[in-house]
Amino acid sequence: MNIHVRGLSRTFVAQGRETPALLDVDLEVAEHEFVCLLGPSGCGKSTLLNIVAGFLRPSAGEVRVGGRPVTGPGADRGVVFQEYVLFPWLTVDGNVQFGLTLKGAPAAERRAVVARYLELVGLAAHAEKYPVQLSGGMKQRVAIARALANNPEIILMDEPFGALDAQTREVLQDELGRIQRVEHKTVLFVTHSIRGDDHRAGADQAGLSDQAARGARPLRARVHPLRERDHPRGEGRGRQGARVRRTRILALLGVLAVWAAVSYGNRALGVMMPALLPTPGDVGTVFAETARDGTLWRHVVTSLGRVAVGFGAAAVAALALGLLAAMCVPVRLMLEPIIEFVRPIPPLAFLPMFLVWFGLGEASKVAFIGYTTFFPMFVAVAAAVLRVDVTLLRAAASLGAGHLDLIRRVIVPAALPGIIVALRLGFALALFVIVGAEFMGADAGLGHLIMEGRTFFLPAQIVMGALVLGLLGSVVNALLLAAERRLFRWREAGATS
Ligand SMILES: Nc1ncnc2c1ncn2[C@@H]1O[C@H](COP(=O)(O)OP(=O)(O)O)[C@@H](O)[C@H]1O
Ligand SMILES: [Mg+2]
Repeated sequence: MNIHVRGLSRTFVAQGRETPALLDVDLEVAEHEFVCLLGPSGCGKSTLLNIVAGFLRPSAGEVRVGGRPVTGPGADRGVVFQEYVLFPWLTVDGNVQFGLTLKGAPAAERRAVVARYLELVGLAAHAEKYPVQLSGGMKQRVAIARALANNPEIILMDEPFGALDAQTREVLQDELGRIQRVEHKTVLFVTHSIRGDDHRAGADQAGLSDQAARGARPLRARVHPLRERDHPRGEGRGRQGARVRRTRILALLGVLAVWAAVSYGNRALGVMMPALLPTPGDVGTVFAETARDGTLWRHVVTSLGRVAVGFGAAAVAALALGLLAAMCVPVRLMLEPIIEFVRPIPPLAFLPMFLVWFGLGEASKVAFIGYTTFFPMFVAVAAAVLRVDVTLLRAAASLGAGHLDLIRRVIVPAALPGIIVALRLGFALALFVIVGAEFMGADAGLGHLIMEGRTFFLPAQIVMGALVLGLLGSVVNALLLAAERRLFRWREAGATS
């Protein structure tokens, strides 16, 4: 495949001013040719490369690859980005085989290819690491291995060796020369330095894997991690974790002690009617009684059931519409003003309407929870999707990802941390409003239990209902946090190693 560039111009508009990045550029790269573009930074090298890759549209002129005009990125043009772009949720191994997975290559083939290219870039020993655990140079080598493993006909490299040490750079330069001679790639290589990034195709290859292995050896110096102890993600584990837990439990016991002192003190001194200020003992008695005769569990299960249905439906809708709104500009333009208007209306203001529409039964409560939790979750999901780095999408597209692959393999995993936060937010809110919904016309549920305490003047029952709600919220939140920790080991890996 050859590259043919004619009369190419590209202008950027930034802050109302036009900056020409490329002006009337002609370039011809023959099939199997290795062309090096050299120029100072800011002269438009990346812009040219991005246009050939299909990420940017030219303002004028044409680009043909293999005789066909470029309309977008594709697996025929592998890209090694200037700012090493790896998928942070995948291991080194997962990153290198990304393109092969998209093609549906069998596992054995993927393993062989990954092994070959990781060996080549001297990272065979690091296959199971996540990008956060790699140095800049190592990341760049993974990015190079990923592009090569996808076996594109053309390789576009944007200052790929900028972050590498001199030794590794030489190894990779020689290796690139060898690959190009053996595999006959067409290479467009961009650099700003003649000395640093130059390509010497004829260099001796002896001792290559040995050198590469040396390049990958960790530095043995004692490096003091900068205030790692303060890192919030390290919280909750090991000895440090035990101290954190002890502090938290002590704080809770302190609150309990104050409550006991005030309530029993009131009972002893008779400041106000004892029933008005239930003691921990009173609340415990109510708890034990209702737990024994099963009424407490009936209320808990009823409330949780309503929350599960209302919150579940809202979560599904928020995920689907949030994704759609983030990816489809017309949908976003339509939804944004509506949501911005509806969102600040306190949901409780609409509760009576829900009772009018859906009656006093289950439907009104479930619908009300759904209505309340949908908007914040929708906004948080859309924001998480919009924050996904465009270079990740470009990297995936240049490895052959189609629209659905982009959603499934890039957008969802990249936005997942934000999506989980949205779900936690929504669940907490659901618990918050279920009580309000159950205050009116419910015959079961924790809100009803609390209301019953008011009607029959049972303050201990009110306090008990509130405490059970708090407990439920804490347990569910802890479960979601634990799930999050398991799911995002790639993010935590950096903090613990
Ligand atoms: N997205 C952008 N918006 C506005 N200006 C840009 C953008 N990308 C590049 N430019 C401008 O285009 C010129 C060329 O940039 P670039 O191609 O990145 O240079 P190089 O890769 O050679 O260092 C620079 O003046 C830069 O400021
Ligand atoms: Mg550049």
